[in-house]
Amino acid sequence: MTSLNQDAARAAKFVGLSADTITFHGGQPLDGRIEVRGAKNFVTKAMVASLLGETPSVLRNVPDISDVRVVGGLLDVHGVKIERDVEGGVLHLDPSAVKSAHMAEINAHAGSSRIPILFCGPLLHQLGEAFIPDLGGCRIGDRPIDFHLSALRSFGAVVDKLPEGIRLTAPDGLRGTKIHLDYPSVGATEQVLLTAVRAQGATELTNAATEPEIMDLINVLQKMGAVISVDADRVIRIEGVDRLEGYDHRSLFDRNEAASWAAAALATRGDIFVGGARQPEMLTFLNVFRKAGGIFEVADDGIRFRHPGCDLKPVVIETDVHPGFMTDWQQPLVVALTQAPGVSIVHETVYEQRFGFTDALVKMGATIELHRECLGGQKCRFGQRNFIHSAVISGPTQMHGADIEVPDLRGGFSHLIAALMADGVSRVSNVGIIARGYENFLQKLKTLGADFTVES
Ligand code: EPZ
Repeated sequence: MTSLNQDAARAAKFVGLSADTITFHGGQPLDGRIEVRGAKNFVTKAMVASLLGETPSVLRNVPDISDVRVVGGLLDVHGVKIERDVEGGVLHLDPSAVKSAHMAEINAHAGSSRIPILFCGPLLHQLGEAFIPDLGGCRIGDRPIDFHLSALRSFGAVVDKLPEGIRLTAPDGLRGTKIHLDYPSVGATEQVLLTAVRAQGATELTNAATEPEIMDLINVLQKMGAVISVDADRVIRIEGVDRLEGYDHRSLFDRNEAASWAAAALATRGDIFVGGARQPEMLTFLNVFRKAGGIFEVADDGIRFRHPGCDLKPVVIETDVHPGFMTDWQQPLVVALTQAPGVSIVHETVYEQRFGFTDALVKMGATIELHRECLGGQKCRFGQRNFIHSAVISGPTQMHGADIEVPDLRGGFSHLIAALMADGVSRVSNVGIIARGYENFLQKLKTLGADFTVES
Protein backbone atom coordinates (compact mmCIF):
# COMPACT_ATOMS: atom_id res chain seq x y z
CA MET A 1 0.00 0.00 0.00
CA THR A 2 1.43 3.39 -0.92
CA SER A 3 2.16 5.83 1.86
CA LEU A 4 -0.04 8.82 2.34
CA ASN A 5 2.78 11.06 1.10
CA GLN A 6 3.16 9.07 -2.11
CA ASP A 7 -0.60 9.32 -2.46
CA ALA A 8 -0.42 13.07 -1.89
CA ALA A 9 2.21 13.44 -4.57
CA ARG A 10 0.07 11.42 -6.98
CA ALA A 11 -2.97 13.55 -6.15
CA ALA A 12 -0.88 16.73 -6.38
CA LYS A 13 0.15 15.79 -9.90
CA PHE A 14 -3.49 15.07 -10.60
CA VAL A 15 -4.50 18.67 -9.83
CA GLY A 16 -1.58 20.05 -11.84
CA LEU A 17 0.49 20.88 -8.80
CA SER A 18 4.11 20.30 -9.86
CA ALA A 19 5.03 20.55 -6.20
CA ASP A 20 2.67 19.99 -3.32
CA THR A 21 3.37 23.18 -1.40
CA ILE A 22 1.34 26.39 -1.54
CA THR A 23 2.35 29.77 -0.08
CA PHE A 24 -0.58 31.75 1.29
CA HIS A 25 -0.74 35.45 2.16
CA GLY A 26 -3.47 35.40 4.81
CA GLY A 27 -5.92 37.96 6.07
CA GLN A 28 -8.21 38.21 3.01
CA PRO A 29 -11.92 37.31 3.39
CA LEU A 30 -13.16 34.68 0.93
CA ASP A 31 -16.01 36.20 -1.08
CA GLY A 32 -17.88 34.88 -4.10
CA ARG A 33 -19.65 31.85 -5.54
CA ILE A 34 -18.36 28.33 -6.04
CA GLU A 35 -20.14 25.17 -7.18
CA VAL A 36 -20.11 21.83 -5.31
CA ARG A 37 -20.79 18.69 -7.34
CA GLY A 38 -21.42 15.06 -6.33
CA ALA A 39 -20.53 13.56 -2.95
CA LYS A 40 -17.11 11.85 -2.76
CA ASN A 41 -18.52 9.40 -0.19
CA PHE A 42 -21.34 8.41 -2.53
CA VAL A 43 -20.06 8.47 -6.11
CA THR A 44 -17.16 6.11 -5.30
CA LYS A 45 -19.65 3.54 -3.92
CA ALA A 46 -22.10 4.00 -6.80
CA MET A 47 -19.19 3.25 -9.16
CA VAL A 48 -18.62 -0.05 -7.33
CA ALA A 49 -22.36 -0.82 -7.48
CA SER A 50 -22.17 -0.73 -11.30
CA LEU A 51 -20.31 -4.09 -11.07
CA LEU A 52 -23.59 -5.69 -9.97
CA GLY A 53 -25.46 -4.71 -13.15
CA GLU A 54 -25.82 -6.96 -16.21
CA THR A 55 -26.01 -3.80 -18.36
CA PRO A 56 -24.06 -0.49 -18.38
CA SER A 57 -24.67 2.31 -15.87
CA VAL A 58 -24.51 6.12 -16.10
CA LEU A 59 -23.47 8.24 -13.10
CA ARG A 60 -23.97 12.03 -13.24
CA ASN A 61 -22.82 15.05 -11.19
CA VAL A 62 -19.47 13.26 -10.65
CA PRO A 63 -16.72 15.54 -9.27
CA ASP A 64 -13.25 15.49 -10.80
CA ILE A 65 -11.40 14.32 -7.65
CA SER A 66 -8.59 11.82 -7.30
CA ASP A 67 -10.69 9.36 -5.27
CA VAL A 68 -12.96 8.98 -8.33
CA ARG A 69 -9.88 8.41 -10.50
CA VAL A 70 -8.61 5.79 -8.03
CA VAL A 71 -11.89 3.84 -8.05
CA GLY A 72 -12.00 4.19 -11.84
CA GLY A 73 -8.56 2.58 -11.97
CA LEU A 74 -9.71 -0.25 -9.70
CA LEU A 75 -12.75 -0.90 -11.88
CA ASP A 76 -10.55 -0.79 -14.98
CA VAL A 77 -8.23 -3.53 -13.71
CA HIS A 78 -11.38 -5.61 -13.10
CA GLY A 79 -12.38 -5.24 -16.76
CA VAL A 80 -15.03 -2.51 -16.42
CA LYS A 81 -15.01 -0.18 -19.42
CA ILE A 82 -15.32 3.48 -18.32
CA GLU A 83 -15.97 6.55 -20.46
CA ARG A 84 -15.49 9.83 -18.58
CA ASP A 85 -16.90 13.23 -19.48
CA VAL A 86 -14.88 15.14 -16.86
CA GLU A 87 -16.31 18.57 -17.66
CA GLY A 88 -19.85 17.30 -17.72
CA GLY A 89 -19.30 15.11 -14.67
CA VAL A 90 -20.70 11.99 -16.36
CA LEU A 91 -19.33 8.44 -16.09
CA HIS A 92 -20.43 5.61 -18.38
CA LEU A 93 -19.61 2.27 -16.74
CA ASP A 94 -19.86 -1.03 -18.67
CA PRO A 95 -19.23 -4.10 -16.46
CA SER A 96 -19.98 -6.71 -19.17
CA ALA A 97 -16.34 -7.86 -19.34
CA VAL A 98 -15.73 -7.97 -15.57
CA LYS A 99 -12.76 -10.19 -14.61
CA SER A 100 -10.54 -11.08 -11.66
CA ALA A 101 -7.56 -8.83 -11.01
CA HIS A 102 -4.25 -9.67 -9.33
CA MET A 103 -3.37 -8.17 -5.95
CA ALA A 104 -0.40 -6.32 -7.48
CA GLU A 105 -2.66 -4.62 -10.04
CA ILE A 106 -5.18 -3.69 -7.35
CA ASN A 107 -2.43 -2.40 -5.08
CA ALA A 108 -0.99 -0.29 -7.88
CA HIS A 109 -4.30 1.54 -8.20
CA ALA A 110 -5.70 1.50 -4.66
CA GLY A 111 -3.47 4.28 -3.26
CA SER A 112 -4.67 4.96 0.27
CA SER A 113 -8.30 4.36 -0.70
CA ARG A 114 -10.55 2.27 1.53
CA ILE A 115 -12.98 1.56 -1.29
CA PRO A 116 -11.44 -1.78 -2.38
CA ILE A 117 -13.13 -3.49 0.60
CA LEU A 118 -16.51 -2.71 -1.01
CA PHE A 119 -15.62 -4.70 -4.12
CA CYS A 120 -16.03 -7.96 -2.13
CA GLY A 121 -19.77 -8.57 -2.52
CA PRO A 122 -20.06 -7.57 -6.19
CA LEU A 123 -16.97 -9.60 -7.21
CA LEU A 124 -18.10 -12.64 -5.23
CA HIS A 125 -21.47 -12.49 -6.99
CA GLN A 126 -19.97 -11.97 -10.45
CA LEU A 127 -16.77 -14.06 -10.27
CA GLY A 128 -16.97 -16.17 -7.10
CA GLU A 129 -13.76 -14.66 -5.71
CA ALA A 130 -12.22 -11.32 -4.69
CA PHE A 131 -8.71 -10.13 -3.70
CA ILE A 132 -8.57 -7.11 -1.36
CA PRO A 133 -5.25 -5.40 -0.46
CA ASP A 134 -4.54 -4.05 3.02
CA LEU A 135 -6.45 -0.76 3.15
CA GLY A 136 -5.22 2.83 3.59
CA GLY A 137 -7.28 5.95 4.22
CA CYS A 138 -6.81 9.03 6.37
CA ARG A 139 -4.88 8.36 9.59
CA ILE A 140 -7.74 9.31 11.91
CA GLY A 141 -7.89 6.11 13.92
CA ASP A 142 -7.36 2.38 13.59
CA ARG A 143 -10.08 2.01 10.92
CA PRO A 144 -10.56 -1.76 11.26
CA ILE A 145 -12.68 -3.83 8.86
CA ASP A 146 -13.92 -6.43 11.37
CA PHE A 147 -17.57 -5.50 10.76
CA HIS A 148 -17.05 -5.96 7.02
CA LEU A 149 -15.41 -9.41 7.30
CA SER A 150 -17.92 -10.62 9.88
CA ALA A 151 -20.80 -9.58 7.59
CA LEU A 152 -19.27 -11.28 4.55
CA ARG A 153 -18.73 -14.51 6.51
CA SER A 154 -22.35 -14.29 7.65
CA PHE A 155 -23.40 -14.29 3.96
CA GLY A 156 -21.31 -17.46 3.46
CA ALA A 157 -18.03 -16.00 2.16
CA VAL A 158 -14.74 -17.70 3.07
CA VAL A 159 -12.04 -15.17 4.04
CA ASP A 160 -8.36 -16.17 3.72
CA LYS A 161 -5.65 -13.87 5.08
CA LEU A 162 -2.74 -13.42 2.62
CA PRO A 163 0.58 -11.60 3.29
CA GLU A 164 -0.52 -8.58 1.21
CA GLY A 165 -4.27 -8.62 1.89
CA ILE A 166 -7.22 -11.01 1.86
CA ARG A 167 -8.75 -13.48 -0.61
CA LEU A 168 -12.46 -14.21 -0.49
CA THR A 169 -14.43 -17.02 -2.09
CA ALA A 170 -18.07 -18.13 -1.90
CA PRO A 171 -18.03 -21.89 -2.57
CA ASP A 172 -21.75 -22.24 -1.81
CA GLY A 173 -22.84 -18.84 -3.11
CA LEU A 174 -24.03 -15.98 -0.87
CA ARG A 175 -27.21 -16.35 1.18
CA GLY A 176 -29.35 -13.70 2.88
CA THR A 177 -28.75 -13.45 6.65
CA LYS A 178 -29.31 -11.38 9.80
CA ILE A 179 -26.54 -8.90 10.69
CA HIS A 180 -26.28 -6.54 13.65
CA LEU A 181 -23.66 -3.79 13.62
CA ASP A 182 -22.16 -2.99 17.03
CA TYR A 183 -21.70 0.54 15.68
CA PRO A 184 -23.64 2.09 12.75
CA SER A 185 -20.66 1.94 10.41
CA VAL A 186 -21.13 3.64 7.02
CA GLY A 187 -18.72 1.30 5.25
CA ALA A 188 -20.10 -1.87 6.84
CA THR A 189 -23.66 -0.82 5.92
CA GLU A 190 -22.53 -0.31 2.31
CA GLN A 191 -20.80 -3.71 2.42
CA VAL A 192 -24.05 -5.39 3.46
CA LEU A 193 -26.12 -3.53 0.86
CA LEU A 194 -23.74 -4.37 -2.01
CA THR A 195 -23.71 -8.05 -0.99
CA ALA A 196 -27.34 -8.63 0.06
CA VAL A 197 -28.99 -7.30 -3.12
CA ARG A 198 -27.91 -10.37 -5.14
CA ALA A 199 -27.78 -12.91 -2.27
CA GLN A 200 -30.27 -15.83 -2.18
CA GLY A 201 -33.08 -14.87 0.19
CA ALA A 202 -33.68 -12.00 2.60
CA THR A 203 -31.20 -10.01 4.73
CA GLU A 204 -31.97 -7.96 7.83
CA LEU A 205 -29.41 -5.37 8.97
CA THR A 206 -29.93 -3.81 12.41
CA ASN A 207 -28.19 -0.67 13.79
CA ALA A 208 -27.43 0.36 10.20
CA ALA A 209 -25.96 3.69 9.15
CA THR A 210 -28.50 5.93 7.37
CA GLU A 211 -26.35 8.82 6.12
CA PRO A 212 -27.71 10.62 3.02
CA GLU A 213 -24.92 8.97 1.00
CA ILE A 214 -26.22 5.55 2.14
CA MET A 215 -29.77 6.51 1.17
CA ASP A 216 -28.57 7.60 -2.29
CA LEU A 217 -26.77 4.25 -2.70
CA ILE A 218 -30.10 2.58 -1.85
CA ASN A 219 -31.74 4.76 -4.53
CA VAL A 220 -29.18 3.46 -7.04
CA LEU A 221 -29.65 -0.19 -6.04
CA GLN A 222 -33.43 0.15 -6.22
CA LYS A 223 -33.10 1.60 -9.74
CA MET A 224 -31.04 -1.50 -10.62
CA GLY A 225 -33.86 -3.81 -9.52
CA ALA A 226 -33.14 -4.35 -5.82
CA VAL A 227 -35.87 -4.62 -3.13
CA ILE A 228 -34.77 -2.62 -0.05
CA SER A 229 -36.67 -1.03 2.87
CA VAL A 230 -35.36 1.27 5.63
CA ASP A 231 -37.22 1.45 8.97
CA ALA A 232 -37.17 4.42 11.34
CA ASP A 233 -35.26 2.29 13.87
CA ARG A 234 -32.25 1.86 11.56
CA VAL A 235 -33.28 -1.59 10.37
CA ILE A 236 -32.62 -2.18 6.66
CA ARG A 237 -34.26 -5.16 4.96
CA ILE A 238 -33.09 -6.44 1.56
CA GLU A 239 -34.74 -9.18 -0.52
CA GLY A 240 -32.10 -10.75 -2.78
CA VAL A 241 -32.88 -10.85 -6.51
CA ASP A 242 -31.30 -12.91 -9.31
CA ARG A 243 -30.51 -10.08 -11.70
CA LEU A 244 -29.75 -6.36 -11.55
CA GLU A 245 -29.60 -3.91 -14.46
CA GLY A 246 -27.44 -0.85 -14.88
CA TYR A 247 -28.63 2.49 -13.45
CA ASP A 248 -28.81 6.10 -14.58
CA HIS A 249 -28.37 8.32 -11.51
CA ARG A 250 -27.40 11.86 -10.54
CA SER A 251 -25.38 12.01 -7.32
CA LEU A 252 -26.47 14.07 -4.31
CA PHE A 253 -24.16 17.02 -3.55
CA ASP A 254 -21.08 16.77 -1.34
CA ARG A 255 -22.25 18.11 2.03
CA ASN A 256 -18.77 17.71 3.52
CA GLU A 257 -17.30 20.01 0.88
CA ALA A 258 -20.21 22.45 1.32
CA ALA A 259 -19.68 22.54 5.10
CA SER A 260 -15.94 23.10 4.57
CA TRP A 261 -16.55 26.21 2.46
CA ALA A 262 -19.12 27.45 4.98
CA ALA A 263 -16.50 27.15 7.73
CA ALA A 264 -14.03 29.00 5.49
CA ALA A 265 -16.49 31.91 5.17
CA LEU A 266 -16.83 32.06 8.97
CA ALA A 267 -13.08 31.84 9.63
CA THR A 268 -12.03 34.45 7.04
CA ARG A 269 -14.91 36.90 7.78
CA GLY A 270 -16.12 36.11 4.25
CA ASP A 271 -19.31 35.54 2.27
CA ILE A 272 -19.52 32.40 0.09
CA PHE A 273 -22.43 31.15 -2.01
CA VAL A 274 -22.12 27.35 -2.31
CA GLY A 275 -24.00 26.35 -5.47
CA GLY A 276 -25.48 22.85 -5.32
CA ALA A 277 -25.79 22.76 -1.50
CA ARG A 278 -29.20 21.71 -0.12
CA GLN A 279 -30.70 22.37 3.30
CA PRO A 280 -32.12 18.94 4.25
CA GLU A 281 -28.77 17.13 4.19
CA MET A 282 -27.08 19.98 6.11
CA LEU A 283 -29.77 20.60 8.76
CA THR A 284 -27.58 19.83 11.80
CA PHE A 285 -24.61 21.72 10.38
CA LEU A 286 -26.78 24.80 9.72
CA ASN A 287 -27.97 24.80 13.35
CA VAL A 288 -24.38 24.84 14.63
CA PHE A 289 -23.33 27.41 12.00
CA ARG A 290 -26.11 29.71 13.26
CA LYS A 291 -25.28 29.07 16.95
CA ALA A 292 -21.66 30.05 16.21
CA GLY A 293 -22.98 33.36 14.91
CA GLY A 294 -22.85 32.59 11.19
CA ILE A 295 -25.58 33.76 8.82
CA PHE A 296 -26.92 31.51 6.06
CA GLU A 297 -29.58 31.98 3.40
CA VAL A 298 -31.08 28.99 1.58
CA ALA A 299 -31.77 29.51 -2.16
CA ASP A 300 -33.15 27.12 -4.77
CA ASP A 301 -29.68 26.55 -6.29
CA GLY A 302 -27.48 26.60 -3.18
CA ILE A 303 -26.81 28.17 0.22
CA ARG A 304 -25.11 31.50 1.04
CA PHE A 305 -22.84 31.36 4.11
CA ARG A 306 -21.43 34.54 5.63
CA HIS A 307 -19.67 36.00 8.67
CA PRO A 308 -21.99 38.22 10.80
CA GLY A 309 -19.53 41.14 10.91
CA CYS A 310 -19.47 40.99 14.72
CA ASP A 311 -18.10 38.51 17.28
CA LEU A 312 -18.67 34.81 16.69
CA LYS A 313 -20.06 32.72 19.56
CA PRO A 314 -18.48 29.66 21.20
CA VAL A 315 -20.34 26.36 20.71
CA VAL A 316 -20.36 22.83 22.17
CA ILE A 317 -20.31 20.13 19.46
CA GLU A 318 -20.65 16.36 19.77
CA THR A 319 -20.06 14.49 16.52
CA ASP A 320 -22.33 11.54 15.81
CA VAL A 321 -23.75 9.38 13.05
CA HIS A 322 -26.51 10.87 10.88
CA PRO A 323 -28.64 12.84 11.62
CA GLY A 324 -26.09 14.09 14.16
CA PHE A 325 -23.21 16.50 13.51
CA MET A 326 -20.95 14.71 11.00
CA THR A 327 -17.42 13.90 12.09
CA ASP A 328 -16.15 15.29 8.74
CA TRP A 329 -17.58 18.72 9.54
CA GLN A 330 -15.67 19.42 12.77
CA GLN A 331 -12.12 20.02 11.46
CA PRO A 332 -12.81 23.08 9.26
CA LEU A 333 -15.23 24.49 11.85
CA VAL A 334 -12.65 24.26 14.65
CA VAL A 335 -10.55 26.82 12.75
CA ALA A 336 -13.44 29.31 12.87
CA LEU A 337 -14.02 28.55 16.57
CA THR A 338 -10.49 29.82 17.36
CA GLN A 339 -11.96 33.28 16.58
CA ALA A 340 -15.01 32.98 18.86
CA PRO A 341 -14.64 34.81 22.23
CA GLY A 342 -15.01 32.18 24.97
CA VAL A 343 -14.62 28.40 25.20
CA SER A 344 -15.85 25.93 22.56
CA ILE A 345 -15.83 22.17 23.04
CA VAL A 346 -15.77 19.38 20.43
CA HIS A 347 -16.38 15.78 21.55
CA GLU A 348 -15.42 13.49 18.63
CA THR A 349 -17.35 10.22 19.10
CA VAL A 350 -16.91 8.61 15.64
CA TYR A 351 -13.11 8.37 15.29
CA GLU A 352 -10.67 7.94 18.14
CA GLN A 353 -7.86 10.15 16.85
CA ARG A 354 -9.22 12.95 14.71
CA PHE A 355 -7.60 16.02 16.32
CA GLY A 356 -4.12 15.63 14.87
CA PHE A 357 -4.81 18.62 12.64
CA THR A 358 -4.96 20.92 15.70
CA ASP A 359 -1.14 20.75 16.17
CA ALA A 360 -0.73 23.10 13.19
CA LEU A 361 -3.40 25.48 14.51
CA VAL A 362 -1.62 25.70 17.88
CA LYS A 363 1.65 26.37 16.04
CA MET A 364 -0.15 29.32 14.37
CA GLY A 365 -1.31 30.74 17.71
CA ALA A 366 -4.54 28.93 18.55
CA THR A 367 -5.33 27.88 22.15
CA ILE A 368 -6.59 24.29 21.89
CA GLU A 369 -6.33 21.67 24.65
CA LEU A 370 -6.94 18.02 23.85
CA HIS A 371 -8.41 15.55 26.39
CA ARG A 372 -9.03 11.81 26.68
CA GLU A 373 -12.26 12.37 28.62
CA CYS A 374 -15.69 12.40 26.91
CA LEU A 375 -16.41 16.15 27.09
CA GLY A 376 -20.01 15.90 25.96
CA GLY A 377 -23.48 14.76 26.92
CA GLN A 378 -23.00 11.17 25.84
CA LYS A 379 -20.45 8.57 26.91
CA CYS A 380 -18.78 7.27 23.76
CA ARG A 381 -16.73 4.18 22.81
CA PHE A 382 -13.47 5.99 23.47
CA GLY A 383 -14.08 7.19 27.04
CA GLN A 384 -11.37 6.12 29.57
CA ARG A 385 -9.49 4.24 26.82
CA ASN A 386 -6.65 6.70 26.46
CA PHE A 387 -7.93 8.12 23.19
CA ILE A 388 -7.50 11.88 22.84
CA HIS A 389 -10.96 12.59 21.44
CA SER A 390 -12.17 15.84 23.02
CA ALA A 391 -10.93 19.36 22.22
CA VAL A 392 -11.36 22.64 24.15
CA ILE A 393 -10.86 25.74 21.96
CA SER A 394 -10.40 29.12 23.71
CA GLY A 395 -10.73 32.29 21.68
CA PRO A 396 -10.38 34.67 20.17
CA THR A 397 -6.70 34.19 19.31
CA GLN A 398 -4.63 36.09 16.79
CA MET A 399 -3.33 33.52 14.30
CA HIS A 400 0.01 34.09 12.56
CA GLY A 401 1.46 32.40 9.48
CA ALA A 402 3.60 29.27 9.78
CA ASP A 403 4.96 26.35 7.76
CA ILE A 404 2.45 23.49 8.18
CA GLU A 405 1.91 20.06 6.61
CA VAL A 406 -1.44 18.56 5.61
CA PRO A 407 -2.10 15.44 7.75
CA ASP A 408 -5.28 14.10 6.11
CA LEU A 409 -8.18 15.17 3.89
CA ARG A 410 -10.43 17.18 6.22
CA GLY A 411 -7.59 18.27 8.47
CA GLY A 412 -5.88 19.42 5.29
CA PHE A 413 -8.75 21.68 4.34
CA SER A 414 -8.70 23.12 7.87
CA HIS A 415 -5.02 23.97 7.28
CA LEU A 416 -5.93 25.88 4.10
CA ILE A 417 -8.55 27.84 6.04
CA ALA A 418 -6.08 28.58 8.85
CA ALA A 419 -3.47 29.84 6.38
CA LEU A 420 -6.09 32.04 4.70
CA MET A 421 -7.24 33.42 8.05
CA ALA A 422 -3.85 33.99 9.70
CA ASP A 423 -1.90 37.22 9.42
CA GLY A 424 1.23 36.88 7.34
CA VAL A 425 2.65 34.13 5.16
CA SER A 426 2.04 30.38 5.54
CA ARG A 427 3.53 27.54 3.51
CA VAL A 428 1.20 24.55 3.40
CA SER A 429 2.83 21.31 2.16
CA ASN A 430 1.44 17.90 1.23
CA VAL A 431 -1.64 19.65 -0.22
CA GLY A 432 -2.11 16.92 -2.84
CA ILE A 433 -4.20 14.94 -0.35
CA ILE A 434 -6.85 17.68 -0.53
CA ALA A 435 -7.45 16.84 -4.19
CA ARG A 436 -8.81 13.48 -3.05
CA GLY A 437 -12.05 15.09 -1.95
CA TYR A 438 -12.18 18.75 -3.03
CA GLU A 439 -12.74 19.27 -6.77
CA ASN A 440 -10.70 22.12 -8.33
CA PHE A 441 -10.01 23.57 -4.87
CA LEU A 442 -7.21 25.81 -6.19
CA GLN A 443 -9.45 27.37 -8.83
CA LYS A 444 -12.22 27.82 -6.26
CA LEU A 445 -9.81 29.55 -3.84
CA LYS A 446 -8.72 31.89 -6.65
CA THR A 447 -12.37 32.62 -7.52
CA LEU A 448 -13.00 33.54 -3.86
CA GLY A 449 -10.09 35.98 -3.77
CA ALA A 450 -7.48 33.94 -1.90
CA ASP A 451 -3.92 35.27 -2.24
CA PHE A 452 -1.56 32.34 -2.82
CA THR A 453 1.19 31.02 -5.09
CA VAL A 454 1.90 27.40 -5.95
CA GLU A 455 5.59 26.56 -5.51
CA SER A 456 7.05 25.08 -8.69
C1 EPZ B 1 -16.99 6.81 5.89
O1 EPZ B 1 -15.84 6.14 6.39
C2 EPZ B 1 -16.46 8.04 5.20
N1 EPZ B 1 -15.53 7.66 4.14
C3 EPZ B 1 -15.75 8.95 6.20
O2 EPZ B 1 -15.36 10.14 5.52
C4 EPZ B 1 -16.74 9.33 7.30
O3 EPZ B 1 -16.08 10.12 8.26
C5 EPZ B 1 -17.27 8.05 7.95
O4 EPZ B 1 -17.88 7.21 6.95
C6 EPZ B 1 -18.30 8.35 9.03
O5 EPZ B 1 -19.36 9.06 8.47
C7 EPZ B 1 -16.03 7.17 2.98
O6 EPZ B 1 -17.23 7.03 2.80
C8 EPZ B 1 -15.01 6.81 1.93
P1 EPZ B 1 -17.30 4.00 9.42
P2 EPZ B 1 -15.97 4.63 6.96
O7 EPZ B 1 -17.17 2.59 8.96
O8 EPZ B 1 -17.02 3.91 6.21
C9 EPZ B 1 -15.50 1.88 13.23
C10 EPZ B 1 -13.84 11.71 4.69
O9 EPZ B 1 -13.10 12.58 5.19
N2 EPZ B 1 -15.47 0.64 12.43
O10 EPZ B 1 -18.65 4.60 9.60
O11 EPZ B 1 -14.60 4.06 7.03
C11 EPZ B 1 -14.42 2.86 12.75
O12 EPZ B 1 -13.18 2.55 13.32
C12 EPZ B 1 -13.94 10.35 5.35
O13 EPZ B 1 -14.53 11.87 3.64
C13 EPZ B 1 -15.10 -0.55 13.07
O14 EPZ B 1 -14.80 -0.55 14.27
O15 EPZ B 1 -16.49 4.95 8.44
C14 EPZ B 1 -14.94 4.19 13.22
O16 EPZ B 1 -14.60 4.37 14.58
C15 EPZ B 1 -13.15 10.28 6.64
N3 EPZ B 1 -15.04 -1.69 12.35
C16 EPZ B 1 -16.46 4.02 13.11
O17 EPZ B 1 -16.71 2.60 13.00
C17 EPZ B 1 -15.37 -1.73 11.01
O18 EPZ B 1 -15.33 -2.81 10.39
C18 EPZ B 1 -17.04 4.73 11.90
O19 EPZ B 1 -16.44 4.17 10.76
C19 EPZ B 1 -15.75 -0.51 10.38
C20 EPZ B 1 -15.79 0.66 11.11
